[in-house]
Amino acid sequence: MSENNYQLEGKTCMITGANSGIGKATAIQLAKMGIHIVMVCRNKERGKNAQNQVKKESGNNNIDLIIADLASLESVKNLADEFKKKYDKLHILINNAGVFNSKRILTEDGYESTFVVDYLSHFLLTKLLLDIIKKSAPSRIINVSSDIHRYFKINLDDLMFEKKYSSQKAYGSAKFAIVLFTYELARRLGGTGVTVNALHPGHARTKMTTTNISWIIKKIMNLFSKSPEEAAETSVYLASSPEVDGFSGKYFKKCIPVKSHKMTYDESIQKKVWEISEKLIHF
Ligand SMILES: NC(=O)c1ccc[n+]([C@@H]2O[C@H](COP(=O)([O-])OP(=O)(O)OC[C@H]3O[C@@H](n4cnc5c(N)ncnc54)[C@H](OP(=O)(O)O)[C@@H]3O)[C@@H](O)[C@H]2O)c1
Repeated sequence: MSENNYQLEGKTCMITGANSGIGKATAIQLAKMGIHIVMVCRNKERGKNAQNQVKKESGNNNIDLIIADLASLESVKNLADEFKKKYDKLHILINNAGVFNSKRILTEDGYESTFVVDYLSHFLLTKLLLDIIKKSAPSRIINVSSDIHRYFKINLDDLMFEKKYSSQKAYGSAKFAIVLFTYELARRLGGTGVTVNALHPGHARTKMTTTNISWIIKKIMNLFSKSPEEAAETSVYLASSPEVDGFSGKYFKKCIPVKSHKMTYDESIQKKVWEISEKLIHF
């Protein structure tokens, strides 16, 4: 495909965690381009409200909603099944949903929930949708990571934080895992017309970063952080720009490819985390 014919009109884009923050802002901006959006949200009421808002603000009525809880692997499987029953194309998948848990929470599958929501469910979802994504090529997978992966890298000896839980380490580890996944998947998808990239959206004022903090911290944060709309810029760019046509296996920040932590380029670690993930999702 040449650089200039990445047509957006009529393309289908799934966005996880699309009812708030960066995910919702991404949905609105892509919907304005005429893209058919499938919003994945865990709560029906919050999902419906956000769906209506995306329609209203974008003027695009081609906005669908699927309810799924990404903390449950069963729910992720149901999500992929429901999507495939309803649609036969998926051109853009944005793995955006995320949590930052102050306490260690176990999912129904017995796994640490930050690891599942921020990484493992997206690993599973992508794998389950890969056939339809390949069929829709040229297509793009976009993984929302974070620069926090630079400071709290993955600990393969205690992936589920059974020994000692730290919210920042758990979040950083999951965001590290999704970068490893991006690079390994990019290699596996070489020559298929499907690209996969990761990104850091920047520090943004969203539910994740503004819940349970004092008004004074909020005021200070307002000075130094982005709005969700500003933070959606790199996701929107990777989903829609002809400039990144063919770019794969990169980590973006402010719409520019930058280096991620050097350990994320270690193919043996990428493969190891892939193998562990396959076991965890019972493939
Ligand atoms: N904000 C930042 O400064 C920042 C910085 C770096 C990276 N990020 C990343 O950006 C992404 C978007 O975060 P945000 O800042 O926009 O925060 P947010 O407003 O809290 O959005 C997170 C989204 O994920 C959804 N979600 C959480 N748990 C879920 C589950 N179990 N099943 C399905 N959906 C679930 C949330 O749904 P509910 O509304 O139902 O909870 C919400 O829609 C995340 O991956 C985050 O790690 C954010």
